[in-house]
Amino acid sequence: MSALFSPISLRDLNLKNRIVISPMCQYSAEDGKATDWHMLHLGHLALSGAGLLCMEATAVEADGRITPADLGLWNDETEAALARVMGAIRRYSHIPVAVQLAHAGRKASTRVPWDGGRQIAPGAPGGGWRTHAPSAIPFHDGDAAPVALDEQGLTRIRDAFVAAAKRADRLGIDAIEVHVAHGYLLHEFLSPLSNHRTDAYGGSLENRMRFPLEVFDAVRAAFPAHKPVGVRVSATDWVEGGWDIEQTVAFAEVLKARGVDWIDVSSGGLSAHQKIPVGRGYQVPFAERIKATGVTTFAVGLITDAHQAEAIVAQGKADCVALARGMLYDPRWPWHAAAELGAQVEAPPQYWRSQPHGLKHLFGEHAVG
Ligand SMILES: Cc1cc2nc3c(=O)[nH]c(=O)nc-3n(C[C@H](O)[C@H](O)[C@H](O)COP(=O)(O)O)c2cc1C
Repeated sequence: MSALFSPISLRDLNLKNRIVISPMCQYSAEDGKATDWHMLHLGHLALSGAGLLCMEATAVEADGRITPADLGLWNDETEAALARVMGAIRRYSHIPVAVQLAHAGRKASTRVPWDGGRQIAPGAPGGGWRTHAPSAIPFHDGDAAPVALDEQGLTRIRDAFVAAAKRADRLGIDAIEVHVAHGYLLHEFLSPLSNHRTDAYGGSLENRMRFPLEVFDAVRAAFPAHKPVGVRVSATDWVEGGWDIEQTVAFAEVLKARGVDWIDVSSGGLSAHQKIPVGRGYQVPFAERIKATGVTTFAVGLITDAHQAEAIVAQGKADCVALARGMLYDPRWPWHAAAELGAQVEAPPQYWRSQPHGLKHLFGEHAVG
């Protein structure tokens, strides 16, 4: 019996297996609106047999986009564009769908990665804008500094998360992941490297956690009680004096008390000075630490083969594994993992005839071409 292919419930949402498709920005939206690219990209991932498909970082307001081409969910037009994609997914797939709600903070207004990824200065050609953050400290020396958010700005952003959560529910999206990782706005509040505020939102750990927790609470309250809300964290900044695993454990404990349904444990992204010891499963030990608090955890980061993923879940290091690049490289990764582990996986009937000889029940008892 495979642990990776055992079901898990997040509130009323039942995942058939522990494989999560990690959120992946596509930088292919127009004015925040999903395009035909999202149809193709999310369409094929929806047929992968994974337990949960988490859509990319989706900006809750235009100011919070990493690039001008980011996906958004801040008005009726962006909602309608995503409704088209959701409609196609629902018509042809049973996969549960989450959306990652995000605000890029001081890392907004940049070029797409394949065009260098550096800041587009406010007003510069290519559509740059003045960014917002906890404090007026740029990510790269020499970048235009963000504007430190005032009380009004905080309220505006909190409300934008709430409005996006309501739109997500209307779209029939099953779950929300609040993006508190990778050096974007909510992580910028947590880290003493990017948060130099002297008000109630800066200084002590309790103060630095305040705004991310307010956003989490507001999203949780705005989304139906039967649907799960998780959080993605960076467990460390990988910089001396920055956010670290001990503070992350404290954050997880508070989130747990407030009803978080999972913590997706990533790392880094806050500082240009980070030194990351990248390697196979390098972030799994952080997930293990968070899991010890009793919260459901997703492990992510260079989890690439079926037996590695199986061991992470079977040994109780995390409840689920999230894969990003591995899913792009092999969009049928869950099928191949099920084949390797002697498990079953869901496939659309149109594809049943692909079931390999000798793996008669890979797609279930009734799956015959
Ligand atoms: C193309 C691409 C886009 C990504 N976009 C996001 C994103 O929108 N939100 C996020 O939290 N992480 C994002 N990530 C990080 C992944 O979700 C994942 O945490 C990271 O790639 C490590 O997992 P992997 O080794 O399986 O790729 C992205 C990664 C890639 C490769």
